Amino acid sequence: MPLVNTKQMFEDAYRNHYAVGAFNVDSIAMIQALLAAAEDVASPVIISVSKGSRAFMHPGNIKEAIECVSKDITVPFALHLDHGDSFALCKDCIDEGFTSVMMDCGDDVSFDERVRLTKEVADYAHDHGAAVEGELGELGGEQGGSGSGGYSDPDAVAEFVTRSGVDSLAISVGTCHGMRKHVRLEFGLLEEMMRLLPDFPFVLHGSSTINNEFLDDFNAYGGDIHGAVGVPEEQLRKIVRLGVCKVNIGTDFRVAYVSALRKSLALNPSRFEPRTFLAPAQKAIYELARHKMADVFDSKDHKIFH
Ligand code: G3H
Ligand code: ZN
Repeated sequence: MPLVNTKQMFEDAYRNHYAVGAFNVDSIAMIQALLAAAEDVASPVIISVSKGSRAFMHPGNIKEAIECVSKDITVPFALHLDHGDSFALCKDCIDEGFTSVMMDCGDDVSFDERVRLTKEVADYAHDHGAAVEGELGELGGEQGGSGSGGYSDPDAVAEFVTRSGVDSLAISVGTCHGMRKHVRLEFGLLEEMMRLLPDFPFVLHGSSTINNEFLDDFNAYGGDIHGAVGVPEEQLRKIVRLGVCKVNIGTDFRVAYVSALRKSLALNPSRFEPRTFLAPAQKAIYELARHKMADVFDSKDHKIFH
């Protein structure tokens, strides 16, 4: 099982001008679909598990469960805690075999306190072979923050990286979490951060495009989500070309899965085998992940690090 630390991934991504996709999962079956997509395009990938998903998926055994389903996988993958909100949670995940954790201190923490909290996690992670993603700037939206998607200050970013010891940093250049992004991406800000911290891996959160095709099915078969706005894929491609090393996809992945599930439930009223409904959902996220890796993040054919 090629479970790796994200540090190695990002070095290769930066050097070879691609980004690694981090996809939010809720089950081992979703992980199987994600790993199958990565394997089929020979791409590295990050399995991203939030606090809530970890609680749902049985904390303590996630790495072992992945080991069981990844025996034939040859691409490198990382197991990452997304939006960890305390030292205790990050420590538990590292102890359980996660190779990367994100320390998200929230919006109401002073700069010095944010450095202190993040450094505590970074020190523990580095002593145990894991990598740490910090965050600075308001990520916002439905997963935390105000939803406005504030912007990171490049000078503060440079100071934060130096003082906290993080291996990568989630910055805000205009995206936010969830269904209504109303994005105005500030590419110049990103370029300024990269000038101050050359070779350093930056992470883009809130990167779903919100595919209308999936939302149409979602609503046609009983769902009720309207007015969604995402980040156009052309803008994601530009972010990747500029050198962002990790792009987070949560909403798109979830919507693809649930839309396909809604549709197959509605179209097969007399069936009752769970696989009848779950297989199309698996296929939908397989195809979405494959498309993002091959056509947007340019990580196809990068399973061997150079
Ligand atoms: O941490 C997860 C991501 O930032 C998800 O953002 O829901 O817009 O894809 P998204
Ligand atoms: Zn996020």
